[in-house]
Amino acid sequence: MKISKMIQRAGTETAFEMLAKAKELERQGKSVIHFEIGEPDFNTPENVKKAGIKAIEENYTHYSPTQGILELREAVAEYISKTRDIKVSPDEVIITPGGKDVIFGTMLSLLDEGDEAIYPNPGYPIYESAIRFVGAKAVPMPIREENDFAFDRHEFEKLVTPKTRLIVINSPANPTGGILSYEDLEFIADIAKKNDIMILSDEIYSRIIYEGKFVSIASIPGMKERTIILDGFSKTYAMTGWRLGYAVANKEVIEALKRVAVNSFSCVATFVQMAGIEALRGPQDEPERMRKEYEERRNLIVQGLNEIPGFSVKMPKGAFYAFPNVKKVGKPSKELADYLLYEAGVCTLSGTAFGEYGEGYLRFSYATSKENIIEGLKRVKQAIEKII
Ligand SMILES: Cc1ncc(COP(=O)(O)O)c(C=O)c1O
Repeated sequence: MKISKMIQRAGTETAFEMLAKAKELERQGKSVIHFEIGEPDFNTPENVKKAGIKAIEENYTHYSPTQGILELREAVAEYISKTRDIKVSPDEVIITPGGKDVIFGTMLSLLDEGDEAIYPNPGYPIYESAIRFVGAKAVPMPIREENDFAFDRHEFEKLVTPKTRLIVINSPANPTGGILSYEDLEFIADIAKKNDIMILSDEIYSRIIYEGKFVSIASIPGMKERTIILDGFSKTYAMTGWRLGYAVANKEVIEALKRVAVNSFSCVATFVQMAGIEALRGPQDEPERMRKEYEERRNLIVQGLNEIPGFSVKMPKGAFYAFPNVKKVGKPSKELADYLLYEAGVCTLSGTAFGEYGEGYLRFSYATSKENIIEGLKRVKQAIEKII
């Protein structure tokens, strides 16, 4: 048997590998504090769960149109129009099984072999993986702490070539918690317009923001047509396991994404889509409560991490990740993550799980309880004091 070259080009998500290692330790009776997985520890709000159950009882258990149920696309169009300050219609929306699928769909729809796509590094690993999978060239855009986890404009400009077809941006960002300023977005928009480049704007953390108001690059004049907005329900509504997300894009791109969908998943589970309508149109106090709780946890973890010898961390502006600089500890990040798991029972991710520019950093997801944060930091501190 032979495994295709195409799938061998794809990468993976180390978070799931670290989780497996941690679970094995737990199976042996060891206690592990989990900071590795980027998923809310809250449960899906009751009103959304009830809407899903009701939909099953009402037999929303058949196929839906590939593009998604019209009422949900209307709800998404209304929501995006309101929150991004643009006018979106339901035929510019496609419903997908999670935001992740929009990444794959976009690469399959826009890139041919030999094309180039610029992506943030460190960044969500699926961007690079999906670009490489389709045979295009993945061009890393270094995201540096000294630029406040944005990018260096001069460095970025030099990455653009006549072969560049796509630029991926992610704000608020995984794994750094950085946010792109309006000026940064304008700079990228200018380059995109001048060079006829499309943007994949991953806005999955747009509701988990601690400073200022969220701005989408799609709201910059002339950019709506050039932008594929990726968003979804996993993070905002604690719905990771439901698998529900969407893309908003021009109709030509939507047609291509539909072609991907009809060849792979056909449609998203129909009762899950019905629950999505309730999430968007129902009361919004639960997402806000969760955001406030993340903010308190952020303050707690940042303070604690900065008290660990050899660690220093910037205050994340959004998402639920802290990305401490651990260069002074003097161990490669991956080795350090393994050391903390086996020595201290604390599961984190090496910054390199997000690309080579993540060396010297660890990612802590603070989508976990304050008790876990306090206990986890105590263990890390003790373990680091032994080696520094
Ligand atoms: C930056 C980013 N984009 C997209 C996703 C995908 O989310 P989902 O497929 O659960 O909607 C994640 C999940 O961790 C993420 O961190």
